Amino acid sequence: MCGIVAYIGNKEACPILIEGLKKLEYRGYDSAGVAILNGDLKIIKKKGKVAKLEKLLNEHSHDTIHKIGIAHTRWATHGKPNDINAHPHISGDGRLAIIHNGIIENYMSIKKALMERGHEFISETDTEVLIHLIEEVQSTQDITLEEAVRVALKQVVGAYAIVVIDKNEPDKLVGAKLSSPLVFGIGEDECFLASDASPIIKYTNKMIYLEDGEVITVHRDGKYEIRTLDNELLDPQIQELELKIDELEKGGYSHYMLKEIFQQPITVAESMRGRVNSDEGWAILGGMSQHIGRIANSDRIIMTACGTSWHAAMIGEYLLEDLARVSTEVEYASEFRYRNPIINENDFIIGLSQSGETADTLAAIKLAKSKGALIYGMVNVIGSTIARETDCGSYIHAGPEIGVASTKAFTSQVTVLTLMALYIGHYKKLIPEDYFRKLLTELESIPSKIARILAKDEQIKFIAGEIKNASNALYLGRGYNFPVALEGALKLKEISYIHAEGYPAAEMKHGPIALIDMYMPVIVLATNKSAYEKLVSNIQEVKARNGVVIAIVTEGDVQIKEIADYTIEIPETEEPLTPLLSVIPLQLLAYHIAVMRGCHVDQPRNLAKSVTVE
Ligand code: G6P
Repeated sequence: MCGIVAYIGNKEACPILIEGLKKLEYRGYDSAGVAILNGDLKIIKKKGKVAKLEKLLNEHSHDTIHKIGIAHTRWATHGKPNDINAHPHISGDGRLAIIHNGIIENYMSIKKALMERGHEFISETDTEVLIHLIEEVQSTQDITLEEAVRVALKQVVGAYAIVVIDKNEPDKLVGAKLSSPLVFGIGEDECFLASDASPIIKYTNKMIYLEDGEVITVHRDGKYEIRTLDNELLDPQIQELELKIDELEKGGYSHYMLKEIFQQPITVAESMRGRVNSDEGWAILGGMSQHIGRIANSDRIIMTACGTSWHAAMIGEYLLEDLARVSTEVEYASEFRYRNPIINENDFIIGLSQSGETADTLAAIKLAKSKGALIYGMVNVIGSTIARETDCGSYIHAGPEIGVASTKAFTSQVTVLTLMALYIGHYKKLIPEDYFRKLLTELESIPSKIARILAKDEQIKFIAGEIKNASNALYLGRGYNFPVALEGALKLKEISYIHAEGYPAAEMKHGPIALIDMYMPVIVLATNKSAYEKLVSNIQEVKARNGVVIAIVTEGDVQIKEIADYTIEIPETEEPLTPLLSVIPLQLLAYHIAVMRGCHVDQPRNLAKSVTVE
């Protein structure tokens, strides 16, 4: 949460910083600010989105060029989102400015001690405490900025990615990280520090991903130095990142989310590229092959994740138990890490995360690692922290996902989990060969089937218009479609602010049925062949109470079409692959409802895409 970007070079910093913040806005958008330096240290910050800050900056006179600056977009933790709590924060003497992503957990005790020594604070933030601490170290020990940052950080408990500038040392940026991400970009005559590569890639693809406990000093002439908190000089490797700028644009769509929904025929194909061949009859995940014996014989698979990734993991549980016959558990990372779970050396732990930065998921896999289990990462963002913390793993290759509500990452996660279940099941010789081949062929046809569903966008938009004023909605599914119901409800909640619940269809009778009346849309995932008649009965039960039924059915369905108010047909597939299709109409439905309700689809209120705090 929170996005940070910093620039030092020969160009005017402000436009670069503002453009960078817009790319990072998915990380938080409560307030935004910049600090720029040219003799004077100028701080401009404002409650609200980056566009507001940009407008404010445009109103300022531009007679001075600022070739160094830091900028921040905030997701509030300590202190309300207002102008004062917005970053950058400055030291008491007005000499230093800081941007920070993370939480300084012991800020209260540091603040108290600083106040006793005469420091006065303007904001309610933990970040302001940190910059006062750096100021105190710097002034009492008469040392360089980077040394002061290092010494101050040794007193800090918590998580941070920070960048600090100093009015008296105007030709350097000092950055540091612990648990929150920080990327260093090396351009021609200019350098960047940012929460991820997106603000940097336009200028250079040469990056260094900083590791925990590292402090970087970047000089205007392009020289840089990376040291540990104990002052040991490091020699990290420069990576050349393959990321195209157009992947970060909307590409003609009105929202990133819509673009990402429509990209799914391509992204799902990318997720399986080189990993499956139905003609030759194999499915493989390179990241697992080295450990396949240990994985196939593990006592348990434990998947840990948050949000949409947790829903993908639930589908993974159904797949792995069904096809690979490994006992599988799915855990909310935030619960798992604190509930003293039983983890054995013979367990196989999978951390699922689009961003690869989610604090709880990261902590959960670190805990499992400390117990000796084999840790596997299934992430989207290349080079992210979870990808680097795990023993092995597979990227899902969905490409940059900018919309806060996850769509294409979900289908890519499910695709990779399907490949995993097929790989283990085949390795263990548990899946009959003809069924295995059938599943592979079907999997390869999923991208074109997704495209057929996307072609129904207008019909889905019409249905969205019919139910857009609802206050509540219920999503029902059985078997493989149950986690899809949870995901459909989450999508609606996240972006349209309609209260929605996902439920196993048969459980409806144990509670939610009491809520059903003519104002309650009930979205039923009714594609399962194995439970078709039971689903028909569930729909009848809703209709008997005047509920409005929107049914997702298989092409050619007759019976449900007669009783449901609206039906959306999706192509037939093998049941384990159904989630890859049945989720698509639910994504589109949520999207259109949110647009019709005037909601900010890509940046829903109170949410952030990368949750780097607990
Ligand atoms: C946030 C995002 C969700 C995402 C969840 C987990 O809540 O808004 O879209 O599913 O974090 O994120 P991860 O990056 O770990 O998949």
